[in-house]
Amino acid sequence: MTMKKKSVFLYQASTAEVQVGPMRLTQYPIQVLLIFAKEDNQSNGFWWACDRAGYRCNVAWTLESALECFLDKHQEIIVIDHRNSKYFDAEDICRSIRATELSEHTVILAVQFMENSSVTACYNELVQIEHGEVRSQFKLRACNALFTALDHCQEAVEITSEDHVIQVGREIFCFVLTESGSYKCKNRRKDSVDVKSITSQSSDAPSLQTRRYSSMARIHSMTIEAPITKVINIINAAQENSPITVAEALDRVLEILRTTELYSPQLGTKDEDPHTSDLVGGLMNDGLRRLSGNEYVFSKNMNLSHTHLPVPNTISDVPPCIAQLLDNEESWDFNIFELEAVTNKRPLVYLGLKVFARFGVSEFLNCSEATLRAWLQVIEANYHSSNSYHNSTHAADVLHATAFFLGKERVKGSLDHLDEVAALIAATIHDVDHPGRTNSFLCNAGSELAVLYNDTAVLESHHTALAFQLTTKDSKYNIFKNIDRNRYRTLRQAIIDMVLATEMTKHFEHVNKFVNSINKPMNDGSNTECTTNIKNFPDNQTLIKRMMIKCADVANPCRPLELCIEWAGRISEEYFAQTDEEKRQGLPVVMPVFDRNTCSIPKSQISFIDYFITDMFDAWDAFAHLPVLMQHLANNYKHWKTLDDLKCKSLRLPSENNN
Ligand SMILES: *[C@@H]1O[C@H](CO)[C@@H](O)[C@H](O)[C@H]1NC(C)=O
Ligand SMILES: *[C@@H]1O[C@H](CO)[C@@H](O)[C@H](O)[C@H]1NC(C)=O
Ligand SMILES: *[C@@H]1O[C@H](CO)[C@@H](O)[C@H](O)[C@H]1NC(C)=O
Ligand SMILES: *[C@@H]1O[C@H](CO)[C@@H](O)[C@H](O)[C@H]1NC(C)=O
Ligand SMILES: *[C@@H]1O[C@H](CO)[C@@H](O)[C@H](O)[C@H]1NC(C)=O
Ligand SMILES: *[C@@H]1O[C@H](CO)[C@@H](O)[C@H](O)[C@H]1NC(C)=O
Ligand SMILES: *[C@@H]1O[C@H](CO)[C@@H](O)[C@H](O)[C@H]1NC(C)=O
Repeated sequence: MTMKKKSVFLYQASTAEVQVGPMRLTQYPIQVLLIFAKEDNQSNGFWWACDRAGYRCNVAWTLESALECFLDKHQEIIVIDHRNSKYFDAEDICRSIRATELSEHTVILAVQFMENSSVTACYNELVQIEHGEVRSQFKLRACNALFTALDHCQEAVEITSEDHVIQVGREIFCFVLTESGSYKCKNRRKDSVDVKSITSQSSDAPSLQTRRYSSMARIHSMTIEAPITKVINIINAAQENSPITVAEALDRVLEILRTTELYSPQLGTKDEDPHTSDLVGGLMNDGLRRLSGNEYVFSKNMNLSHTHLPVPNTISDVPPCIAQLLDNEESWDFNIFELEAVTNKRPLVYLGLKVFARFGVSEFLNCSEATLRAWLQVIEANYHSSNSYHNSTHAADVLHATAFFLGKERVKGSLDHLDEVAALIAATIHDVDHPGRTNSFLCNAGSELAVLYNDTAVLESHHTALAFQLTTKDSKYNIFKNIDRNRYRTLRQAIIDMVLATEMTKHFEHVNKFVNSINKPMNDGSNTECTTNIKNFPDNQTLIKRMMIKCADVANPCRPLELCIEWAGRISEEYFAQTDEEKRQGLPVVMPVFDRNTCSIPKSQISFIDYFITDMFDAWDAFAHLPVLMQHLANNYKHWKTLDDLKCKSLRLPSENNN
C-alpha cells in the first residue's frame, strides 16, 4: 500500500474548543500538508503520525501540486523535506507558499537534521506544534476575523452557530461577506476569499447616524410608484414599531434595495483576476471609458444597404450529404462546423429549415416554406462572414442549442407553441449584422449605432430592429404576413425580449430572477404539477425563455471538447482583432488581456466559466435536466485547467497541435 492510495482518511476526528477571553471558538481538525521529494520512511512517519493525531493530511511531491493543494485547503501545518536539495529546492517551495494569500497563519516545518522516521517522533513533533504555534495562530486569526466583521458591518453581528458557539473557521469570511449583502461568494472554493478584500471595501461607509437620516430623506422624495417603491414603503412602515435592532437591519435592507444595480455583483478593483475584470469591463459595461470627442465614427463595416440580397433558390431538395448530416441534428453533440463546411458557409438556412419544420413554425405562422427559406437566406446574408466568431455559424449554433432545450420535457411542458416559435426566431436573428466588436467598443468609438441607441444595449437593439426591418420590408420573405395583428404583437414582444436578454449587462439579473422564481419554488413545493403551473404564469415563462436563449448563446463551454476548443479559438481571434483595432485607432483598449501577443486563452476561458457559466448552467440544469452538458462543462474546464497548470497559453498542448 502506498501513501497516494490512502486518500479516504480520518472521519473520527473531532473538533476542539479553544477559549479566547470570553469567547469559545471551535477549532476544526488540523490540516497538514507534507511536501516531500519522494515517499520514504520519513514521509510515511509523518503520514501515520497525522493519522494517530486525528489530523487531515495531504501529500505533494512537486512545487506545483503543493501550491495547488495549499491554495485549496490552506493547511495549518506544512512539513517540507529539506534533507536532500538535489531533488527539489525546499527554500523555493517555502518562499512560494509564503507568497500566497492566507499563508501568514500557516506553520512551516522543515525536515532537516531530525530524520527520525518513527511515528512517535513525528507525532510528538506535530502535537507540540499544534498546541503551541498553531493554537496561537488560530486565536490570532479569530480575532482578526472578528475585528474585520465588526469593522465591516455597522449593525450588531452575531457570528455564532445555533448553539451560540462562536464560529471561526474559513466559513466566517463567507458569512461576513454575505452579511454585507453585496458580495457573492462566487468562488468554486468557498474558503478562498481573502479577508483583505473585506477590509478595503468598508472604509468609505458613512456612519450609522448619517446614513439612516439620508436614506429616509431619499425614500420620502420618491414619487414614482414602482413595485420597488411599494416594497420600500412597506418596510418603512414595518420599521416604525420595531425594536431598534430590527429597524436597523431593515435600514440596511433598504440601503441595498435602493441601489440601482440590484443584481450585479460588485467587483473589487484591486486583487481581481484581470481576465475576469476585463471580461466584465468588455462585456458588461457600455463604454464607461468613452472618449471625450467622438473623433472616430464606426461605419465602414456596417451593411445597412440591403438592396442586393441574393435571389432565393427555388425550393430544391437538400443535397444528400447535408440531409445526412442533419439527421443527427437533435443530438447535443451535433457538429455544427461540419454543417458549416458542407453547406459552403450557409449553416443557418439549412439547419433553420430542418428545425423550423420540426417545430411546425410555418404551420404556426401560416406561411409557405418558400417564404421561410427566403427569410432564412436574408437573415443569414446579414451575418458577417468576415467575423471569426459572430458569423452565421454562431447563429446556427444558438438555434441548435435552443431547439435542443425546447425538446427537454420540463421546458416543453412550461411553454406554449408561440413561445417555441418566438424562441427559434429569436435565436436565428439574435446577432444579425454583428460588427465583430463589443458594445463597449462601439460606445468608445462613438459609432453611429451607439449614438442611435444612447450607448444602451446597442448591439442587441440593432439586431432586433434590423431583423424586423428586413422581415417586413418585402412580402416574399415576410414570415409574419399571414398572422393577425394581436398574435404578431405578442410574438414580436417575445422575440424582442429574448434578444435583449442576451445583453450581458443584465446577466446576473436574469440568472438571479430565474433562480428565485423558478428554481427555488420548484425545490420548495411538491414539484409534480409545477410545469402546468408555470403555464399559468406568463412572467415565469418569460424568465424561462430568457434563461434559455442566454444559455444557448454561451453554451460553447458545454459542447464536446473539440467543438469547445474551436469556439474558444474563434472568440479569442475576434477579441484580438478588436484589441488590434483599438490600438490602431488610439481607442481605449477594453479588454487588455485579449492581446494576441500575450493572451492566455486557457486563463480567459477559466475566468469566463467561473464568472458567467457555472452558476447559470447549474440553475438551468436544475430546471431542464442536462447531464450531458454538465459533463462536457466539467471536462472542458479540466482541459483549460490542465493547460493553464502547464503554463500553456494556447488552445491545446503543443504536442496535440496537429489535431
Ligand atoms: C525504513 O524502515 C524499515 C523498517 O521500518 C527499514 O528496514 C529500512 O531500512 C528503512 N529505510 C530507510 C531508508 O531508512
Ligand atoms: C526517534 O524517536 C523515538 C521517539 O521519540 C526515540 O525513542 C528514538 O530514540 C529516536 N531515534 C533516533 C535515532 O533518534
Ligand atoms: C452586405 O449585405 C449583402 C446582403 O444584404 C451581402 O451580399 C454583402 O456581402 C454584405 N457585405 C458585407 C461587407 O458584409
Ligand atoms: C393562412 O393564410 C392565407 C393567406 O395566405 C389565408 O387565406 C388563410 O385564411 C390563413 N389561414 C389561417 C388559419 O389564418
Ligand atoms: C465563421 O468564421 C470562421 C473563422 O473563424 C470561418 O472559418 C467560417 O467560414 C465563418 N462561417 C461563416 C458562416 O461565415
Ligand atoms: C436617446 O436619448 C434621447 C434623449 O434622452 C431620447 O429622446 C431618445 O428616445 C433615446 N433613444 C433611445 C433609442 O433610447
Ligand atoms: C411562478 O410565479 C409565481 C408568481 O409570480 C410564483 O408564486 C411561483 O412560485 C413561480 N414559480 C413556479 C415554478 O411556478
